[in-house]
Amino acid sequence: WKRFLQVTGGITLLTVASGVTLYYVAQKDRTPGPQLPHDPTKKTLVILGSGWGATSLLNSLDTIDYNVIVISPKNYFLFTPLLPSVAVGTLSPRSILQPTRYVTRHKKRQVTVIEASATDVDPITKTVTFADTSEIQGLVSTTTIPYDYLIFAVGAEVQTFNIPGVREHACFMKELEDAEKMQRRFLDCLESAAFPGQTVDEIKRLLHMVVVGGGPTGIELSGELHDFLEQDLRSWYPELAEHVRISLVEALPSVLPSFSKQLIDYTESTFKEAKIDILTKTMVKEVRDKSVVLQLPDKSIAEVPCGLVVWAAGNTLRKVTRDLMAKFPDVQTNRRGIAVDECLRMLGSNGTIFALGDCTATSYAPTAQVASQQGAYLARVLAQIAKKDELELRLKELQVSTEPEAKEEREHIEKRLVKLEKLRPFKYSHQGSLAYIGSERAIADLPFFNGNLAMGGVATFLFWRSAYLSTLFSMRNRILVATDWLYVKLFGRDVSHYI
Ligand code: FAD
Ligand code: NAI
Repeated sequence: WKRFLQVTGGITLLTVASGVTLYYVAQKDRTPGPQLPHDPTKKTLVILGSGWGATSLLNSLDTIDYNVIVISPKNYFLFTPLLPSVAVGTLSPRSILQPTRYVTRHKKRQVTVIEASATDVDPITKTVTFADTSEIQGLVSTTTIPYDYLIFAVGAEVQTFNIPGVREHACFMKELEDAEKMQRRFLDCLESAAFPGQTVDEIKRLLHMVVVGGGPTGIELSGELHDFLEQDLRSWYPELAEHVRISLVEALPSVLPSFSKQLIDYTESTFKEAKIDILTKTMVKEVRDKSVVLQLPDKSIAEVPCGLVVWAAGNTLRKVTRDLMAKFPDVQTNRRGIAVDECLRMLGSNGTIFALGDCTATSYAPTAQVASQQGAYLARVLAQIAKKDELELRLKELQVSTEPEAKEEREHIEKRLVKLEKLRPFKYSHQGSLAYIGSERAIADLPFFNGNLAMGGVATFLFWRSAYLSTLFSMRNRILVATDWLYVKLFGRDVSHYI
């Protein structure tokens, strides 16, 4: 008994202590203190975007150095790696969002957050024009502001290759609305298939889900769809579950070209077990209301009936990015994106525009890992530039002084300026690639002692979960995501067709 009481007492004490700490941390987070106002002597730093690159920069940036303005059509950061989980209801949408103001309100100096889309950047006048593109607008919905430094982190949009019918009939998997739209359509397909008197052919059509693109997005989404089917739909739609079919269409000879061969084989065999059809060397030529038109490996054309098409065929540049590049026609000629130097300065911009993430053309893959490391790096670069700007200002003041101490200080500043002139180049450190493939299995290509460690399976799935849980930007998100996982384990996914 004594031992039992000791153990339970210890556990209770630990639980209470963790609860109190959690409460204290959460309260501190919820009630940010006063901030310094914008300082007219500081330079204006305008950040376009609130995604991986921009948010990582904001997290690390010392806002004492600048008057910071963030402009983005979304007033939140979206944790994209877990977006496919939202599409099938494993996670609720708000669990993977972090309002940008939750970051900026904790900075030392005020940061202005504007929910708007940048429509034009003028590098000559150093101004940005932006517009409120949301549903509700006030009397003023477009304006132009000046910047001293511009951080261009607007990401990319979905590549459709202008294939007919994609925009009209397919769902994307890029934004939160895409995941919600896909979930709504998927559940609609199920309910329409359950409508009395539906023919077997029509049921099969409605329940045929086609995912286009065998990159990580398409693979993860197919895996999540499979889990939804096996873990939930079989219970709630027993008469329909047998008819659900998932096809993954990929134009290249194999899926996941960026992963090692061993993991590609493992994914293919897992999909085979899960009865997900992988159609490689097959290209979608058109998306119609109730079908997809495929070009098969033998170049013949087939029209395949389906209820839902999810388009995950890669990235392309946004209009605002193309327009900005067009202003530097001599140096911005890379069709993949903005060309930057080793310090992420946009070529041609004279060091006033920095670009990072998916809107740039670098030797790195367009991933969250790259964008977030670039954001953290830029925060360090901007701190150095602020120091340099401050010293240059002081030097100007000293130039008019005839005091002997002024000469000494001038020499000291000039020496420091030489050091500050040189910026350390950005260096990417690859932490490995991870992807969820369904059936509670994941794959991981990890750098290991100058080599590569390829892992796949249930243990990797647990590693995948813990890696993403720790990568989430806030404790609030971690708790929400962990709670959602527990909820789904206990009660399953919700099949209400309400959104
Ligand atoms: P984003 O994060 O896309 O941010 C762009 C920001 O710019 C957004 O806030 C957007 O609202 C804003 N914006 C858009 N237009 C304008 C405008 N006109 N003016 C101002 N702001 C604008 N990468 C990984 O490394 N690991 C993963 O597991 C992973 N999983 C992914 C899963 C999915 C489903 C997707 C779609 C991508 C995934 N990625 C992953 C890739 C990763 O999300 C991107 O590489 C990353 O988001 C790029 O960061 P970014 O800052 O360049 O762009
Ligand atoms: P992707 O560019 O990696 O893959 C798109 C695929 O679609 C390509 O393989 C392409 O051949 C195929 N495709 C294009 N047009 C087609 C057509 N008409 N018919 C059939 N197939 C067609 O795009 P994805 O998966 O959206 O990834 C974008 C970026 O985000 C990548 O850099 C990726 O590494 C990263 N990402 C990383 C994840 C992870 O690490 N877990 C998860 C999701 C994305």
